[in-house]
Amino acid sequence: MQRLKNKVSIITGAAQGIGLATALKFAEEGANVVICDVKQSSIDEAVRQCMALGVQAVGYLMDVTQRGMVDAVVSKVKAQFGRIDVLVNNAGIT
Ligand SMILES: NC(=O)c1ccc[n+]([C@@H]2O[C@H](COP(=O)([O-])OP(=O)(O)OC[C@H]3O[C@@H](n4cnc5c(N)ncnc54)[C@H](O)[C@@H]3O)[C@@H](O)[C@H]2O)c1
Repeated sequence: MQRLKNKVSIITGAAQGIGLATALKFAEEGANVVICDVKQSSIDEAVRQCMALGVQAVGYLMDVTQRGMVDAVVSKVKAQFGRIDVLVNNAGIT
């Protein structure tokens, strides 16, 4: 199914765990995904896995506690995709 076809979706903490699983599910559903995390090597692998599902995927090193980094990523995503449809605010620690 393609219930999220072409929806531009930012997912924080998407390099592993629930965030990565969400990104992959969104990609399966046709969403273009923006992978944000603090782990660059894992971001790159997550982007690769999403792109393998046939969608656009980009990754950004972004710490959600740093307002400047968040603002910069939002600006880049708007410039690249023209809009933001979904935010999955997943990043966190237990
Ligand atoms: N797994 C559970 O049972 C459970 C239960 C309740 C709530 N949660 C919440 O769900 C979310 C995901 O959990 P998970 O089990 O997949 O965790 P995880 O530790 O496996 O993954 C969290 C991801 O978030 C990233 N991250 C951490 N701090 C960040 C920051 N400041 N900015 C950007 N990225 C950051 C990490 O690098 C990691 O890739 C977390 O917010 C967690 O608190 C999880």
